[in-house]
Amino acid sequence: MKVVTTAAELRQEVALQKAAGRVIGFVPTMGALHSGHVSLVDKSLNDNCFTVSSIFVNPTQFNDKNDLKNYPRMPEKDIALLEERGVNLVFTPSVAEIYPEEDSRIFDFGSIDKVMEGAKRPGHFNGVAQVVSKLFDIVQPDKAYFGEKDFQQIAIIKDMVKQLKLKVEIIPCPIVRDSDGLALSSRNMLLNPAQRNSAPLIYRALSNAQKQERSTSISALNQMVVHEINADNELDVEYFDIVDADTLQSVSSWDESSNIYGCIAVKVGAIRLIDNIRLK
Ligand code: PAF
Repeated sequence: MKVVTTAAELRQEVALQKAAGRVIGFVPTMGALHSGHVSLVDKSLNDNCFTVSSIFVNPTQFNDKNDLKNYPRMPEKDIALLEERGVNLVFTPSVAEIYPEEDSRIFDFGSIDKVMEGAKRPGHFNGVAQVVSKLFDIVQPDKAYFGEKDFQQIAIIKDMVKQLKLKVEIIPCPIVRDSDGLALSSRNMLLNPAQRNSAPLIYRALSNAQKQERSTSISALNQMVVHEINADNELDVEYFDIVDADTLQSVSSWDESSNIYGCIAVKVGAIRLIDNIRLK
């Protein structure tokens, strides 16, 4: 497995593989890798792609300086894990390599970034679109793999791909959970033992919501989930939105859409965790 730090080296390696007829699969990450990331690289390898992964903590998508500062970083361990899985090429650029000058592009995602994460983290998705478009431009992947835990991020990236008329296929992959149900996230390692103990309640409440009969109204279900999670002292629901899976806009009745998701963000001390579940 080669590890490269410059766009020029990366382009050269990928060009050789393309010339040899390989399909390029790409898994962009911010490092601190866990089994969720592993499931993405495994999927790319199983799809028989020449698999490229990037490790880059992208400053432009952090609206909170402390979050950027505290974001876990363990590049050596990450590289060893990617090598063990059989990844072909790893890209670990510096900030100056990705942003030789400031990226002043402002994307317009209409209503899909005005809700949920977009509303609570101003500028976050613009930063995601900036970095992913730059990485796509460097890697020129045929397929790119993203975890469904970041449900809204996938919608944003699909929209960006459409706007920029890119040829890459976006492949959403299922959430990977710990044995107690907690959705895997690099931020889980920042939880203290009491917080880690409480965090699985997020998925338990979502699963309970999924089991409810349709006779329960959307607003009653919403309250039920928020109440169940907030009953735990360690947890504080920031939002729980029941939305149409395509538009990401809230629905007020079950008849409004055939594909409805519950999307949640919960503050656990200073850490924010997100999760989602299909409700219809
Ligand atoms: O999902 C992530 O880890 C990041 O948002 C991504 C897609 C790697 C862009 O920095």
